Amino acid sequence: MKFFIDTANLDEIKKAYRIGILSGVTTNPSLVAKEGVKFEDRIAEILQAVPKVESVSAEVTPHAVTAEEMIAEANELIKINGGDKNITIKVPMTLDGLETTRYLADKGVKVNVTLIFTVNQALLAARAGATYVSPFLGRLDDISEDGVQLVTKIAELFRVHNLDTQIIAASVRHPDHVTRVAMAGADIATVPYKIIEQIAKHPLTDQGIEKFAADWVEPKK
Ligand code: E4P
Repeated sequence: MKFFIDTANLDEIKKAYRIGILSGVTTNPSLVAKEGVKFEDRIAEILQAVPKVESVSAEVTPHAVTAEEMIAEANELIKINGGDKNITIKVPMTLDGLETTRYLADKGVKVNVTLIFTVNQALLAARAGATYVSPFLGRLDDISEDGVQLVTKIAELFRVHNLDTQIIAASVRHPDHVTRVAMAGADIATVPYKIIEQIAKHPLTDQGIEKFAADWVEPKK
């Protein structure tokens, strides 16, 4: 399973990229709004900051509701930085979002269909040509449904039908989600920076480092 970072914060993106674990970035209107910056400018900065990843998701704005409106926004987004090949257009899972997906996929543009909450939605998005589908596990857990189970089922369905759309486990809230979606067959988990820090750490690692430091004696020359 690969890691994407789920943020529009440039410092966090740069830190995760330096660690060498990053395969992509996902943003959404809420994450961009939190940064208080111009959307297109931030996407341009992110694309520049992470040249070796496979995908940077830029979501159409909430003003774009019809396929025509989404396509118009996507056509501007794909021009950023002279047409960076890593840009991925993120569209909501609606009929207009699917129409946009098919249009962009036929043009060779990567699409991430977001706000997936059922297996059928994932199947439709894959058939519309999505490069990625994003099931939101945390938000399903919030309403007492099993988000990881959804990822398991989508992974099985894509395997049985030989669909090459990649599953991005999204709305990941804690380290156990990461382990469980990796075991469930997610291709990617998109996670906040805080989770990267959490899964890198273990108290016994810290204790071990302290003990090695305490035991260390400089060799005599
Ligand atoms: C993914 O693409 C979304 O940006 C994100 O994972 C949503 O997470 P949330 O449910 O914690 O807002």
